[in-house]
Amino acid sequence: MITKMQFIDIHGHYAWGIDDGIPTQDEAIKALQMAKENNICTIVATPHVVPGTHNETDIQHFKERIANLKALAQNENIEVYEGCELFLNHDYINSINQQLFIPIENTSYLLVEFDVRKEIGKEYEVEDYLYEIDIKGYTPIIAHAERYFPHGIDLQRIEQWIDSGYVIQVNASSLLGVHGKTVKNNAYQLLNNGLIHIIATDTHRSQGHRIPCLQEIYQLLSKKYDYQTLKTLMYDNPLHILQNESVEMIQVNQSFFKKLFKRR
Ligand SMILES: [Fe+2]
Repeated sequence: MITKMQFIDIHGHYAWGIDDGIPTQDEAIKALQMAKENNICTIVATPHVVPGTHNETDIQHFKERIANLKALAQNENIEVYEGCELFLNHDYINSINQQLFIPIENTSYLLVEFDVRKEIGKEYEVEDYLYEIDIKGYTPIIAHAERYFPHGIDLQRIEQWIDSGYVIQVNASSLLGVHGKTVKNNAYQLLNNGLIHIIATDTHRSQGHRIPCLQEIYQLLSKKYDYQTLKTLMYDNPLHILQNESVEMIQVNQSFFKKLFKRR
């Protein structure tokens, strides 16, 4: 059954003209209209922040553009919150120490990404980075976790991330097959094993691949997955993030996954 549900999109490059996302205000308006048609009631604007490249002036500029987006989104009755997608490269620790990042609005959650152009790195450049962020007081949300495994997902590693208290976000576009068969399979393996907390759009444009398509993905997934599972992934957990609360595990296999994920 397809039920009208509201969605919260915690990952998207809607704030125009500041990264490789939406290029112009006109296209931002189109993306917001599409978001509205897709029943997205709340957006977190998450421009790319690249350590070693972006300075304090850039961060301030990003925040101002997000404020512009917020004003624009009022026309569509969409709430906008600020955030960023922090690229975890070898310079990341300087950015963390200098506060050159934007946590998700007034929370201790920070959206982070690794390089999707290559296979996920080893422990010293992945788990060590995540641990450093954690001990600085921020909970990493790992953006599009399915995209770092070109030879197939390592479920054990994802489970370790979850056990460490990190949040797993998967892109709607991956579930739709936009990033190829392996990434699509990775995304469904995560879903079928209950190892996703959040589905988001990672919107970069108002048309093409990474667009505000949460209603589309909801309709597709609702053929196979139950209402509460999808609501947890696309509304409840994003709301928990915005309220700085713990996220929930989905209950795909009740005997194994019926547990709440507790943040430390
Ligand atoms: Fe992104």
